[in-house]
Amino acid sequence: MSERQKVWVSQPLFDDIVARLHDHFDVVQVPEVSEHDSATIAAALRDVDGALVTLNERVGAKEIAEASKLRAVANVGVGYNNLDVAALHARGIVATNTPDVLTETTADFGFALMMAAARRVTEAERHLRAGKWQGWNFKGLLGADLHGSTLGILGMGRIGQGIARRASGFDMRVLYHNRTRLPADIERDCRAEYVDFDMLFARADHLVLVLPYSAENHHIVDAAALAKMQPTATLTNIARGGIVDETALADALANGRLASAALDVFEGEPTVNPRLLALDNIVLTPHIASGSLATRRAMVDLAVDNLIAALGAGPDAGHPPTPISTGTKDAKRPGTA
Ligand code: GLV
Repeated sequence: MSERQKVWVSQPLFDDIVARLHDHFDVVQVPEVSEHDSATIAAALRDVDGALVTLNERVGAKEIAEASKLRAVANVGVGYNNLDVAALHARGIVATNTPDVLTETTADFGFALMMAAARRVTEAERHLRAGKWQGWNFKGLLGADLHGSTLGILGMGRIGQGIARRASGFDMRVLYHNRTRLPADIERDCRAEYVDFDMLFARADHLVLVLPYSAENHHIVDAAALAKMQPTATLTNIARGGIVDETALADALANGRLASAALDVFEGEPTVNPRLLALDNIVLTPHIASGSLATRRAMVDLAVDNLIAALGAGPDAGHPPTPISTGTKDAKRPGTA
């Protein structure tokens, strides 16, 4: 009988779903939520055939240098900037992610954050909880409307399209910018109009960022981009922290260049820039856009399927793995975040 393959599961996930891995592999399960440094990840990968990792684990050339048996890394997440996919591919290691299953949940949350920023929901709650509410105030905490306003979407992949479809119910005009313009039927379905980057920033009353992070779009939303926005506008980021220059954003929010913002993602997660924490006109959430119970379970389910399939371990994979391919990823999935 051939030796069973071995896999590493980097964090506690859902035991009943991860249990499916035990049918095929010897599983090394990390028992507690843990912060793994590079050396720990390298040590964990040294002796395994596959790994199920989360966005918190960086897997690159250094971490796989001694992982001679490693053949597959299944990421629990649609974004995969924690993986050096080129380095994995160079070693013939399959990398997979979890697209689709989180699209609608993440679009819901993007919408929720945008609404919270526009209508100052968390600021108003802090005001009330601090005992500052003196009674109904005609001019207190006035916000901006969503209905009838212009929504701007930067990154029009599946999640961006989900947000655009929701905007129809609010009678919003939808503008988008993307590396690749969408086919006409999808534009029609989303009731979305393609504009260039500058126009998107200038015209949006509410701008939502849903593009995948890459070295090329690091700080694409910088002081110059923010300066193009209307001072009454809001900015929501559910993509990755590195897309926004947080210092420039803090300046814009502090000096009235921008009305408000909402961030679910941060450059130095889990550390949040203290200047952002000190501002009232910003909604801050701890990277939970895909965090409904059903969706987080579906993500783990898909990642488990991916690992089983990528390691060729069985018919119960159910479907082929969802491999990440470099080079074409932005063209194929321009807005997945
Ligand atoms: C969450 O941020 C994800 O990429 O799945």
